Amino acid sequence: MTDYVIADETDVMPRDGTIKLHGPAGYEGMRKAGRLAAEILDALVPMVRPGVTTAAIDDVVRQMTLDGGAVPATLGYRGYTHSCCISINHVVCHGIPSETRVLRDGDIVNIDVTPLLDGWHGDTSRMYLVGDVPLKAKRLVDVTYECLMIGIEQVKPGARLGDIGAAIQAHAERQRYGVVREFCGHGLGRLFHDAPEVIHAARAGTGPELKPGMFFTIEPMINLGKAGVKLLDDGWTAVTRDRSLSAQFEHSLGVTETGAEIFTLSPAGLHCPPYAA
Ligand code: MF3
Ligand code: CO
Ligand code: CO
Repeated sequence: MTDYVIADETDVMPRDGTIKLHGPAGYEGMRKAGRLAAEILDALVPMVRPGVTTAAIDDVVRQMTLDGGAVPATLGYRGYTHSCCISINHVVCHGIPSETRVLRDGDIVNIDVTPLLDGWHGDTSRMYLVGDVPLKAKRLVDVTYECLMIGIEQVKPGARLGDIGAAIQAHAERQRYGVVREFCGHGLGRLFHDAPEVIHAARAGTGPELKPGMFFTIEPMINLGKAGVKLLDDGWTAVTRDRSLSAQFEHSLGVTETGAEIFTLSPAGLHCPPYAA
């Protein structure tokens, strides 16, 4: 049984396993937070090139977030001390920005940002290609973006949460890619991570029913090899067990009367690589 509650848009409600249903004030808040998040990812495009450190990218994310009147929700989150996650090649997610990691020709990079603006979280990530990237890596990136968008296509009132994961899993496994099970999309709004868990490999027709006013992310992590991941000793960095490449895209969205409103669409149209003109 899933419990749904009408969200109080003026206050932070606890994470109690219930699914919050939002109204116009929530949509307005999420549009602004989501737009800022997407603008930050847009602005990083010219910066993601060989020679730049991931710490320098993190600095720009922090400054743009603050300039936008927001704070990075990851700063101080469960002891995390950076403004974004930067996950390169076989890093699945939660890569930690570093002064010593310099981007190199051929890297595929996920940058995940979450500005908290006026109490609302805009959570989004995209892949970036550094210099000349091998075709098989580019294909992984393209298919992962397709997985995200095919997942979003399932979102409408009356559908089930499992329909999203079923569509993503089918598309990824058709290419013999592995769908990561250890990390999920999530409800969000005034909370960064809330119910429900949005799993990216699921059975159609299972899970909670989607209702107008639900806010959540979809953020599939797709591996070129097997699905397995392991956590590095830093307690954050998740990598593929078989060291194969991994890609991820993430949008924050709301369920509408007829489908989904994506809060984190790129205003510049930079949805997936190649971004260069
Ligand atoms: N942005 C990530 C997500 O999509 C969460 C990062 S939490 C951090 O849910 F602490 F690792 F930054
Ligand atoms: Co997320
Ligand atoms: Co994220």
